[in-house]
Amino acid sequence: MPGEKVTLSVIKADVGGFVGHSAMHPHLPKRARAILAEEKKDGKVADYCVTHCGDDLELILTHRNGEGDEGIHRLAWEVFRSVAETARELALYGAGQDLLKAEFGGSLDGMGPGVAEISFIERKSEPVLVFMADKARRGVWNLPLYKVFADPFNTPGLVIDNYMHEGFEFEILDTQAGKSVRMRTPEESYDLLALAGFSSRFIVKSISKRDGTPAAVSSVSQLSKIAGRYVGHEDPALVVRAQAGLPSVGEILEGFSFPHLVEGWMRGSHIGPLMPVSVAHSTPTRFDGPPRVICLGFQLADGKLSEPRDMFDDISFDTARKAASEAADYIRRHGPFEPHRLADEKMEYSTLPGIISKLAPRMY
Ligand code: F6R
Ligand code: MG
Ligand code: MG
Repeated sequence: MPGEKVTLSVIKADVGGFVGHSAMHPHLPKRARAILAEEKKDGKVADYCVTHCGDDLELILTHRNGEGDEGIHRLAWEVFRSVAETARELALYGAGQDLLKAEFGGSLDGMGPGVAEISFIERKSEPVLVFMADKARRGVWNLPLYKVFADPFNTPGLVIDNYMHEGFEFEILDTQAGKSVRMRTPEESYDLLALAGFSSRFIVKSISKRDGTPAAVSSVSQLSKIAGRYVGHEDPALVVRAQAGLPSVGEILEGFSFPHLVEGWMRGSHIGPLMPVSVAHSTPTRFDGPPRVICLGFQLADGKLSEPRDMFDDISFDTARKAASEAADYIRRHGPFEPHRLADEKMEYSTLPGIISKLAPRMY
């Protein structure tokens, strides 16, 4: 019903890779679509789109239940469980990898899957972009989000559009303290950058207009914290609404034209460039990477998704991809040395403590 809030939930999990961690077996999204088709018939979701980014299964759902809804989270959990079963039958790699808990506990928080949810009243026309990353840890969206929502060299609308000129409000999560803070741009840009530039600790969780209109939201869960060990990267998701007083589609995509360096890649323990690619090219093969980002665009209409547009399937991103490949060549030549390999305290796993204790008797 127009005027009623719609919720867009992007829920993702790695439930098995093909081959290794490089991509997704076609039977997996097929299984997810078959289940969701039934759920749509039963009215449990208004609409759905299933895709993959590398080895991550991505469920894009619309409904009227709001964020954090138990029914929607349970539904996604059941889809992942069923698809993981298919992955097991096919002996795919790491089947069920991100499903870290045996029983569903009322919410996907702390269970493994990544969740980005945004609720809003649909505008007359509602363009929405869904970004999904593979071989990347959370925190990868900080730089592009700053460019898109706070940097006039990326987004001229901040200067010349009356409806954007006042700026935006960023919600930043301090993952160490477990607390969040809201900061306004442009007036607090430098303070914001002091936090957001430290992207392994502070994460841009959401962005809104000054009047509270939701503009963007990202997934923030941390896999290793839940599992107590390395199980894979977060491979986070991000939803951004576009146009008419928000950054335009082109301004948002422009934020990804520079393949910035992110944490993730091989064994979740390396720095590498984030390469914007089409869904078909989200197949991280070289050194299990380099990290990828895909983007599907939708026009929402009364809670229904349009056909998805594969936004990075465009030759104008060829130079970004080339730059990413060149950066990959350059940084790979560092082999096991920092800064390509992360500093030890940031590594997802390490042999260092064992080596140091083995060497202890020889140390003087
Ligand atoms: C997984 C990933 C990969 C693996 C690597 C080793 O998302 O990024 O780089 O960490 O392939 O995987 P295992 O330990 O499963 O052999
Ligand atoms: Mg995997
Ligand atoms: Mg992945």
